[in-house]
Amino acid sequence: MSGNTPIGVFDSGVGGLTVAREIMRQMPKEQIIYFGDTARVPYGSKSKETIITFSRQIAKFLLTRNVKAIVVACNTASALALETIKEELTIPVIGVVKPGAITAAKATKSGRIGIIGTESTINSGVYTQYLDKMCPHVQVFAKACPLFVPLVEEGLLYDSVTVEIAERYLNELQGYDVDTLVLGCTHYPLIRHTIQKVVGPDVTLVNPAFETAKTLKRVLREKEIECSEQMPNHKFFVSDGAEKFKSFANTILSCDVEETKDINIEQ
Ligand code: SIN
Repeated sequence: MSGNTPIGVFDSGVGGLTVAREIMRQMPKEQIIYFGDTARVPYGSKSKETIITFSRQIAKFLLTRNVKAIVVACNTASALALETIKEELTIPVIGVVKPGAITAAKATKSGRIGIIGTESTINSGVYTQYLDKMCPHVQVFAKACPLFVPLVEEGLLYDSVTVEIAERYLNELQGYDVDTLVLGCTHYPLIRHTIQKVVGPDVTLVNPAFETAKTLKRVLREKEIECSEQMPNHKFFVSDGAEKFKSFANTILSCDVEETKDINIEQ
């Protein structure tokens, strides 16, 4: 496998752009092939079987684009489908949950960590399992925030309705006195200003994107498949609403997203 081939990144929608943005920052030479499953978002309330089926379809598509590694930027897919996809592919597959747990374990001082994510991610218990394994002394408090994803997908990043929903979800967590809060869904960093305002300045928010990109960089180096020259422009694919996705992506990424293509992922 040559290093001068792209990295596949996928998410249920626009949220994974926060991970793509971090990969671009840490590895500016690498080319990203991004897929956002905008026709089927949200993933967070779907069953494990469905998430595995969707993830398989997307991995198959990314392989047709000759990717050398896949980053599962979606927390829900990382929680429910990562192990299956890893077993089925011969290229490196990296999720966001373990990197998020590592960052939280490093960040907490009081040992009281909050996790917010989709229903499926929270019910899977996967963040708690990683944290229990890494540092058995920490206490983890998890809360599903299912309305955050549709609010972000609708672009209501600064809307008062988002503040109101955040208060309802997060007030419960505040009672647990956490000092660290994991944004366990790739959409949540896009409303981190609201989340921070609600939980207060003393709570450290953890965005797994930084550690995920760092993990990817280490894996590419170990396998000697880093890019040796500047690669062509990143490419963006979605399963619906390419134009809407493109304008959203242009508000999040510093590169110019000139084109986004709609594809039928179920074929
Ligand atoms: C979703 O599609 O519901 C959320 C994506 C994620 O879990 O990161």
